[in-house]
Amino acid sequence: GKGAAMVTAVAYRLAMQHAERQRILEPLRLGREQLLEVKRRLEEAMEQGLAKETHQQASLKMLPTYVRATPDGTEHGDFLALDLGGTNFRVLLVRVRSGKKRSVEMHNKIYSIPQETMQGTGEELFDHIVQCIADFLEYMGMKGAVLPLGFTFSFPCQQRQLDQGILLRWTKGFKATGCEGEDVVTLLKDAIRRKEKFDLDVVALVNDTVGTMMTCGYEDPLCEVGLIVGTGTNACYMEEVRNVELVEEDEGRMCVNMEWGAFGDGGELDELCAEFDRVVDESSNNPGKQRYEKMISGMYLGEIVRNVLLEFTAKGLLFCGKPTERLKTRASLGLVRSILQHLGLTSSTCDDSILVKEVCGVVSRRAAQLCGAGLAAVVDKVRRNRGLEHLRITVGVDGTLYKLHPHFSGILRETVLDLAPGCEVSFLQSEDGSGKGAALITAVACRMRDAAKH
Ligand code: GLC
Repeated sequence: GKGAAMVTAVAYRLAMQHAERQRILEPLRLGREQLLEVKRRLEEAMEQGLAKETHQQASLKMLPTYVRATPDGTEHGDFLALDLGGTNFRVLLVRVRSGKKRSVEMHNKIYSIPQETMQGTGEELFDHIVQCIADFLEYMGMKGAVLPLGFTFSFPCQQRQLDQGILLRWTKGFKATGCEGEDVVTLLKDAIRRKEKFDLDVVALVNDTVGTMMTCGYEDPLCEVGLIVGTGTNACYMEEVRNVELVEEDEGRMCVNMEWGAFGDGGELDELCAEFDRVVDESSNNPGKQRYEKMISGMYLGEIVRNVLLEFTAKGLLFCGKPTERLKTRASLGLVRSILQHLGLTSSTCDDSILVKEVCGVVSRRAAQLCGAGLAAVVDKVRRNRGLEHLRITVGVDGTLYKLHPHFSGILRETVLDLAPGCEVSFLQSEDGSGKGAALITAVACRMRDAAKH
């Protein structure tokens, strides 16, 4: 009768909606073959970045860091550290003690960097940084102390030595003028000079990945990879110096800052990108740049989800076809886990919120898998470098997305296990990696400087 016909019609409509949703999500689901292809292309891009001939055009910059060894426990002293480029700007005092009771004790203070400063002039930015250091020294009752300083600066820098580095370009939300192409340590020293009141002894410029690897290396000597999955994403690892063609030496190893966020900037990910990725890229601060980072890191995942939800809404599959103001606003969604609250969807039984959760799940699964494919390429490269059949290695990890997302780390681990079967990879979360690591690197450099003096 009529009732049965209506039930059939409803069932039919539901099935159609389901099919339509899956069609929209399909480009965001990656198969094993695609992930293997990502791994293969990343391996290729690593070689291009390392080789002198291809370095200029390469999308992966594979930057030498002048960090040649992981810590050995003999590091000692008091150090200042700065940490710029993650969620917060911090100034730290780090006390490193060697010997039987080796330990690292830290005091730190978080400072906010106002949006205007982040996007104003370089002078304003560095004046602000120096102001924060002055405040910190006062707060710690250490005014006038000149401690060796390690500067964790989490952006791509071309280094020719440990205490220098030219900012190649800003990434993430930063765009202060007059900094790209300049030596960051000089910019800091100039700002100190303008303030006149105090002096600093800048010993090391360090990427956050390197700081993280060093911090974890302090506890686990097998730690030879550093990984960040937070606002941005990046990795570093210990490479054979003979393979780092930008450095004119052949002996030993050096940590290489991959700047893997820029993978894909040469078109390597084009076939894999969904329409949503293109929209997120085009409406970003730096279109065409950091394509891999834009598919993985916390600063962009919310945007991908938002664009998928907009598409669902446009097709009448969500919010009864009417997008809310929030949904229409760029950068309105934060980390995936806060999205439901943000949209005011609190009852998890309602269809809309089930759907929103599904979208978040698909987008973050893809992010973790892509990241895992990259990591598989890195550990397999280390294994081949050493002519090993089987490699045991630890990855030091930091970053809000990795630490706070309920499934990211699990999917990442699974993917690496699957794509790099010759490697036995352990993951070690760093506690406060970037600050501590900068201090450890500074400690090693000071020890060597003192040894050279005597
Ligand atoms: C961006 C930066 C890189 C940093 C990463 C994680 O990709 O370019 O230097 O390591 O974010 O903070």
